[in-house]
Amino acid sequence: MQNLLTSRVSSLSTCRGLWNLCRIGKAVPKSVRLAPRGSRFNSVVASDVTKVEKIILDNIKATGPLSYATYMQLCLGHPTHGYYMNPQHPVFGTTGDFITSPEISQVFGELIGIWFVSQWAAAGKPPSVRLVELGPGRGTLMADILRTISKFGLGKSLTGVHLVENSEALRTVQEQKLQASPYHDPPKLHWYNHIAEIPRNPSEYTILVAHEFFDALPIHVLQKQETGWHEVLIASTETESPEPNNENTEVTKSTARLRRVLSPKPTATSRLLGHSSIRFDNLPVGSTIEVSPTSFRIAHQVGQLLASQEPSSELDAPSESPKESERGVGGCGLIIDYGAAQVFGDSFRAFKEHRMVDPFHLPGECDLTANVDFAYLQEAMSGLVETHGPISQGDFLERMGLEFRVKALIGAAQSEERRGRLVDRSGMGNEYQVFGITSKQEKTAEDVYPFVQASS
Ligand SMILES: C[S@@+](CC[C@H](N)C(=O)[O-])C[C@H]1O[C@@H](n2cnc3c(N)ncnc32)[C@H](O)[C@@H]1O
Repeated sequence: MQNLLTSRVSSLSTCRGLWNLCRIGKAVPKSVRLAPRGSRFNSVVASDVTKVEKIILDNIKATGPLSYATYMQLCLGHPTHGYYMNPQHPVFGTTGDFITSPEISQVFGELIGIWFVSQWAAAGKPPSVRLVELGPGRGTLMADILRTISKFGLGKSLTGVHLVENSEALRTVQEQKLQASPYHDPPKLHWYNHIAEIPRNPSEYTILVAHEFFDALPIHVLQKQETGWHEVLIASTETESPEPNNENTEVTKSTARLRRVLSPKPTATSRLLGHSSIRFDNLPVGSTIEVSPTSFRIAHQVGQLLASQEPSSELDAPSESPKESERGVGGCGLIIDYGAAQVFGDSFRAFKEHRMVDPFHLPGECDLTANVDFAYLQEAMSGLVETHGPISQGDFLERMGLEFRVKALIGAAQSEERRGRLVDRSGMGNEYQVFGITSKQEKTAEDVYPFVQASS
């Protein structure tokens, strides 16, 4: 059955952000590109129950339907069988399930590195700098950034590289990649499971990047009813709800073993999340939204880190700007992901071998992802730092000089093809968004280029 799903598209290279499958330099016909979830794949059921699926079914049997957040945590982050945790899963590249921008072209990381150098220069070239990356994957982006900043003299100020990565398997890959580069001195590497573990150091300028990290964080799915926000949950087709008088309403069937159901009444979680942004209050009854409290918490901690504030778990307390005297040298950051400054309702999807598949297909063996609500991240950082954009990846890369850099590269034809792919407005160039963060310091519009449109 798996072969049926994948054989037709083995030559395609899929970027997870795209609802569409994309081929280098060539548009794929619309009927193939659009793969709406929950319809095309309903009839596809893998015959073998995966290890994670067994755990999920046992959990549902024991305690009832699961939230999408728990489903994602188990599928991606189960300590031994999770998608990113199991070293047997190839994940990235042509032999894996998807490809990311840094893996497509080195120019992507180089231009990001140049933006960081420009921010560091605008901040008066603080003598101590550290790099932070959330979800570094194979370490390719960080290697390209290190090579670039070294060329611009920032390498000498670098005190260390701090990587937030919860997969031991990927930590090993990252270490090999970052220690091996001939282009810069081996940096001091530090790994953490959570951003809050990174020590605060107000005397160091912090440069942070997160590429395709927030999309992998757990979401809750809520639906607005006359009675308020209810949570959409995942149930088994084999087990009834453990409380007969509290039957969940079925939303849709998806696979033979897992289905979506609506909780019969609002819960503490659905009430809290449904009111966690003023934007959600104005939505009409019937609306469905995907909300990631984990993303909100991490974005808040990013704001605190770049503002040199101690981390706190008090998210609902209004954020206070650090006083002038308490402010450190600050920092800057870029979050790059697909999504927009809006809430999404039906973007949750799965990828397997460069093909979009049903999110309930082979749990734990497919990549899972949901669009990022950048407005939510901005709300989480409010008062701590200044935010810029998001702007499209295409605009960011082109304004940073993508074309000139590509022309300078050896193998210009291949580089040109890859350039096209990164900025293609019908694909990655538009769906991926770049969100800038800078600590609160006096700035001119030029300082935060390319987030302000150059006047013509
Ligand atoms: C889609 S990959 C992106 C990799 C890389 N940034 C790139 O663009 O090629 C997501 C990365 O985030 C890591 N990750 C996912 N969830 C995480 C979490 N909750 N805490 C720490 N790392 C996580 C994964 O292990 C992986 O390295």
